[in-house]
Amino acid sequence: MNRQEIIDILSDKTKNDWLFKTANQIRHENVGDEVHLRGLIEFSNICKRQCKYCGLRSANNKVERYRLSVNEILSTAKNAVAMGYKTLVLQSGEDDYYDTDKMCEIISGIKKLDTALTLSIGEKTYEDYKAYKKSGADRYLLRIETTDKKLYTNMHPGASIENRFNCLFNLKKLGYETGTGCLVGLPDQTIESLADDILFFKELDADMVGIGPFIPHKETPFKDAGNGDFWLALKVMALTRIILPNINIPATTAMETLNPNGRIIALQSGANVVMPNVTGVEYRPKYEIYPNKICLNDAPEKCRGCIEGKINSIGRSISRKYGFRKH
Ligand code: 5AD
Ligand code: FES
Repeated sequence: MNRQEIIDILSDKTKNDWLFKTANQIRHENVGDEVHLRGLIEFSNICKRQCKYCGLRSANNKVERYRLSVNEILSTAKNAVAMGYKTLVLQSGEDDYYDTDKMCEIISGIKKLDTALTLSIGEKTYEDYKAYKKSGADRYLLRIETTDKKLYTNMHPGASIENRFNCLFNLKKLGYETGTGCLVGLPDQTIESLADDILFFKELDADMVGIGPFIPHKETPFKDAGNGDFWLALKVMALTRIILPNINIPATTAMETLNPNGRIIALQSGANVVMPNVTGVEYRPKYEIYPNKICLNDAPEKCRGCIEGKINSIGRSISRKYGFRKH
């Protein structure tokens, strides 16, 4: 599919049903009917960056900030593995408290458990990424957010899109399964730039792609902006499945925030992964990237049972494997 075809599909509502059905069929043929669960540990909400859309940006002094200790992170991980998770995702703001040694200690501690490990901790140096890999990290998530340089620069004060690209290519080079993705519905974002985002996923040969609608947070410069469109985000996701048939694609939490059945709709439109939160309930409300996140008061055990029930109800099953990309 070329750029113009992608733009045409994104702009044409009459193609939606065809698109979702086709992506679902390609998902079925290439990665099968099993759904991979990744247990998400949100271990620090402290962030040095200023992303204009994100509720955890450092200028927001209304958030109560927290950091989990190494021991708390390891016990959260043990609990998740005991619940049956075969992949864990360590996510945080860009928090320099966790220096290279501390991260490597956490990574090697978790890798003693029976689990694959994904990191989602932002832009680091090549040497850092190399050290994490050596300690056992398998995968890394770093959304490009948008490939539109002007928009990227405006959204991320003090950051550069060149460094973002550089980080992603470094991760690939180091042998990580590399995840990226974008936001859909940022103020001033165009359909053309969403097509370029999809083409970038292909250029990188991303192993995972997470796509979510933008949701305005009241303590950010975009407090008065409108929500991103759920269906447009779903279309970007479905096109990504068609263009990269064998990758892992999550049904994102932001989709469920805008549509009460969002994750199930996504699983039937190309997605094959869900990332339930396994962080303790006391921390969840503080990790407010955007408002009205789902499952804020639900214990990890509850989410696990809930999502399993929903997945089974559409005739799909939960994978017992680590869920690496199928080649
Ligand atoms: N709405 C939706 N998603 C957001 N993210 C950050 N802020 C928002 C928001 N306001 C997403 C970014 C980031 C991921 C962890 O959360 O894409 O990569
Ligand atoms: Fe958390 Fe449904 S996934 S309660």
